[in-house]
Amino acid sequence: MTILWDLDPHAQERYGFALGDRVDLHAHGPQVLRVLEGGSRHRLVVIGPDIPVDSACQLAERLRVDRPEVGVLLLRHRLDVTVMGLALRSGIREVVQADDQTALADAVRRSEQLAAQLVGETGRESRGKVITVFSAKGGVGKTTVSTNMAAHLASTGAKTLLVDLDLMFGDVAISLQLIPQGTVTDLVAMRGHLDRAGLESVVVTHEQTGLDVVAPSSDPADAERIPADVVLELLRTARGIYDYVVVDTPPAFTEHVLTALDVSDLAVLITTLDIPAVKNLRVAMNTLDTLGGSTDNRVVVLNRSGLKVGLDSGEVETALKQAIAVSIPNSLSVPAATNRGVPLVMHDPKDAAAIALRELADRQVRARFGEVIQETPRRGGLGRRRSRV
Ligand SMILES: Nc1ncnc2c1ncn2[C@@H]1O[C@H](COP(=O)(O)OP(=O)(O)OP(=O)(O)O)[C@@H](O)[C@H]1O
Ligand SMILES: [Mg+2]
Repeated sequence: MTILWDLDPHAQERYGFALGDRVDLHAHGPQVLRVLEGGSRHRLVVIGPDIPVDSACQLAERLRVDRPEVGVLLLRHRLDVTVMGLALRSGIREVVQADDQTALADAVRRSEQLAAQLVGETGRESRGKVITVFSAKGGVGKTTVSTNMAAHLASTGAKTLLVDLDLMFGDVAISLQLIPQGTVTDLVAMRGHLDRAGLESVVVTHEQTGLDVVAPSSDPADAERIPADVVLELLRTARGIYDYVVVDTPPAFTEHVLTALDVSDLAVLITTLDIPAVKNLRVAMNTLDTLGGSTDNRVVVLNRSGLKVGLDSGEVETALKQAIAVSIPNSLSVPAATNRGVPLVMHDPKDAAAIALRELADRQVRARFGEVIQETPRRGGLGRRRSRV
């Protein structure tokens, strides 16, 4: 995703040809800096022609030290030698005439290539993280957690794909109000030769966050027609393209789920405060142990915490023999957001459940995989964290 720093609220449309539709528009420099210093995955900042050259240079100087992989391009109404000299000395990669969309598109491509080289993302080195959200009991919050986590990851600028592996009754698309043009079933015809273009042909994008989604077909009978190796190929291809691949699952150990868990870098296991959910999760964890899964890449999330139902989080931890990483409180805003087709983290970001969902994504995913998370002033917020890959 690209950051566009411009005073014109319609700037995104003006430069759409060169920048594409994944643009984060900001009018203020401090805002741009905050986003970038918050450990975002943005790799390019384009500065509009009406931003003073001094402010543009200050930002570039700062990024040159703190985020050298981020390219800065400066747009000007007229190109003049003095401005170009100042700009290039401050670390701005190129100065481009604002009305020359072709020149801007070329500069964007050059900057992206350089960024990819700087972060070692080219070729076979590229490997995103696969995170599978699972529970052994239905209705405990898998779709809520996976959708919100993925939406939050995407909104930080990370290229994120949400795969709905609930192949019979998947409801990710409907909960984000998306109409998929292709589905997992279409991938069967590409078996053995799935590539980026093939995957992109079945992806639908959630405009508000930039999150990409692969949904199952609406015919539950299709689930049986999808071999597990298609799921494997889907996830392997996706991790070469995306920073994060989040997988939502049905409440059963299907061969598709086992395949996803097998290639996952992290399993997010969900329980609620009821004995069947805890018991089933314990059984599922035993099964994962038997299959040789590592306990290091598993986290337990307690959903709908705070309900007075005669079971508390300490008892859940004892039964599971694992600490609860994050507790998501019960909140009426959760079904309200789902019914509106907007992720809770966008619909009601101050809600306690939204805060917990962001914390799950920030602490258990982004920080775990080496992102530096912005220090947040709120109570119980995350401190600035060091990389831990
Ligand atoms: N923290 C919460 N507070 C209140 N309601 C919640 C919370 N989490 C989930 N819900 C509600 O619980 C219901 C089930 O959630 P969700 O669909 O996410 O579960 P699931 O595990 O994906 O279910 P399934 O197994 O059927 O796929 C939904 O109506 C959702 O709005
Ligand atoms: Mg679900």
